[in-house]
Amino acid sequence: MSLDAMVASILDRIGPEVGQGRVADYIPALARIEPSKVGIAVATLDGNLYTAGDAHEAFSIQSVSKVFTLALALGRAGSDLWQRVGREPSGSAFNSIVQLEREHGIPRNPFINPGAIVVSDILLAGGRPKETIAEILSFLRWLADDDTVAIDAEVAASEAETGYRNVSLANFMKAFGTIDGPVADTLDVYFHQCALSLSCVQLARAGLFLANRGVDPVTGRRVVADYRARRINALMMTCGHYDASGDFAFRVGLPGKSGVGGGILAIAPGRAAVAVWSPGLNDSGNSHAGTIALEELARETGWSVF
Ligand code: DON
Repeated sequence: MSLDAMVASILDRIGPEVGQGRVADYIPALARIEPSKVGIAVATLDGNLYTAGDAHEAFSIQSVSKVFTLALALGRAGSDLWQRVGREPSGSAFNSIVQLEREHGIPRNPFINPGAIVVSDILLAGGRPKETIAEILSFLRWLADDDTVAIDAEVAASEAETGYRNVSLANFMKAFGTIDGPVADTLDVYFHQCALSLSCVQLARAGLFLANRGVDPVTGRRVVADYRARRINALMMTCGHYDASGDFAFRVGLPGKSGVGGGILAIAPGRAAVAVWSPGLNDSGNSHAGTIALEELARETGWSVF
């Protein structure tokens, strides 16, 4: 079956699953998203794009942004980054605080909220949040090869108003010396990166370098070193779905990163980057129908890395 037909048929089949689960409501601006939205985009290394459903509609990528800020911060701080954040699965929810106390304020990995807040702090590097936010946005526009990629100011404001857990996590880490900058500035960066708004098409395109050893196959531009792309994929596989990372590896078998906006970016190394979006979340905060779509796609293409 052609990829075009496969993507269309998967969208058809997951229809009954769309709308199941719960739309994230702890960020008020996300609670308003229509649960019936669903999109799939597959960007292949040869530059082709296969789409179905609402694949061209922008949505809040939330924690999927953590993949891109990690890539940017590794370029900035290099391996020193690993002094301030670990690279082990947490086995905990993305916003859990308990491990942080036992582990001296060093988050388990860059994809749980405290780890991503540290990455934001590394990008801030004592500068002004506005400039760091602009740098992150430019990076995403460059990766997606699309200047229309934007940050949703309303979502960022909504997170800043209600992000009590993130404020706690950041202050807790500040007390341990893991955060350098003023907590409010670091969080300003973090809340804005989470509010990045991309369509499935833009997200798959932006992630394509991870399927091609760090080089954007369309423009030929190197984004990260070969070994870094492999390491980011390894972290996506082991930590990208929080305490459901094992289940995602079992069911899909691809490096993946989810966000509470209902998006998932999955990487099929040497083949494609895939973005799915369906806002209904399962109990672990990952897209219910999106995960099923990826499970089907991996099964039918044989793209599992295992
Ligand atoms: O900080 C938060 O809680 C959200 N901005 C992002 C969380 C998220 O996307 C977790 N992913 N499943």
